[in-house]
Amino acid sequence: MTHKVRVGVLFGGQSGEHEVSLVSARAIMDGLDPEKYDIIPIGITKQGRWIIAADAHARLLVQADPSKLPGGSVGATIAASTGTGDQEMDPGTLIGAGEHSPLKMLDVIFPVLHGPMGEDGTVQGLLELIGVPYVGCGVLASAVGMDKAMTKVAFSGAGLPVLPWLLVRRREWEHEPQRVLDWIESRLHYPMFVKPANLGSSVGVSKVTDRATLEQGIAEAASYDRRIIVEQGIPAREIEVSVLGNDEPEASVPGEVIPSGEWYDYAAKYLSGSSQILIPAPITLELAAQVRTLAVQAFKAIDGAGLARVDFLLNRETGDLYLNEINTMPGFTPVSMYAMMWDASGLPYTHLLDRLIDLALERHAKGRA
Ligand SMILES: Nc1ncnc2c1ncn2[C@@H]1O[C@H](COP(=O)(O)OP(=O)(O)O)[C@@H](O)[C@H]1O
Ligand SMILES: [Mg+2]
Repeated sequence: MTHKVRVGVLFGGQSGEHEVSLVSARAIMDGLDPEKYDIIPIGITKQGRWIIAADAHARLLVQADPSKLPGGSVGATIAASTGTGDQEMDPGTLIGAGEHSPLKMLDVIFPVLHGPMGEDGTVQGLLELIGVPYVGCGVLASAVGMDKAMTKVAFSGAGLPVLPWLLVRRREWEHEPQRVLDWIESRLHYPMFVKPANLGSSVGVSKVTDRATLEQGIAEAASYDRRIIVEQGIPAREIEVSVLGNDEPEASVPGEVIPSGEWYDYAAKYLSGSSQILIPAPITLELAAQVRTLAVQAFKAIDGAGLARVDFLLNRETGDLYLNEINTMPGFTPVSMYAMMWDASGLPYTHLLDRLIDLALERHAKGRA
């Protein structure tokens, strides 16, 4: 019999979504079939150090924070083949080691990283340089999907519907705030949504209803990013759909999120716990079909691979449907939207993981060819 597939599960990372990543990674490690896979946990600390240890998973369960993992303990599966114990290194060393890079021992890597410095193409670029197959989107799709402005450019370019929006650069805002405010008010009407271009989890996002709150919203978003999106606000229902595949991606049944508050802000996502999820979304069959078609087109528009969750805003008054964003590494527990929508489509969690690993290997093999 051939050996089990050695899967490196990469988790933690330097973004604000470090803790969310731990939860996703733990679920994935529990969900991967032990008959088929050897799992090698690889933690990335908030400082960006990589820790490779066989018992990182166990220690993760108790400590829930890989930055606290002590170095130099038990032999890892991977360390058994390299003859060393826990290995802690910076990303540059991982590349510099070339053929001796410990990551080369792996058959595939599952980068379970959310947000900047993980979901944005940076880690994907490192894995490309090392030449190891990995789950999910490549450098371009990850980078485009992370950036709300570039996502909209890609969607519009593919003829997909997006809400009217404007890009404000922090420098312009700092130099000529009145002119920027006038310009925005001449193009969009209240309410508007103001967002940093490059974050997730609703951090730095505000709904603004007049000039004073617009000003506050931009200042808030500018504290997170050099580039700020101002978008037309609508009375929105939030429809999401999961996409899976490489060259012939498929879409799941759509779901709907009903936020506990007026919109899906950080509190509704992570604190109140009373947001509701409806799968399938209570929409007409025609609309569900349209959502699925648009989701696949959106995935192709950014050159997606492996997986992505595509989020829509549906105007509850006019019925108009808009693409909102694409998440190339959405939250990934069995009770996350992404997995639940596949489960409702007939693909249970464990099989979903198998599929993602197959897709990673397939994509790598094609890339080689
Ligand atoms: N144009 C809009 N109209 C109405 N609601 C919006 C709009 N843009 C964002 N929202 C609300 O804000 C939430 C967060 O915005 P989103 O663009 O999804 O950012 P994030 O990447 O932080 O999830 C959405 O889930 C939705 O509730
Ligand atoms: Mg969102």
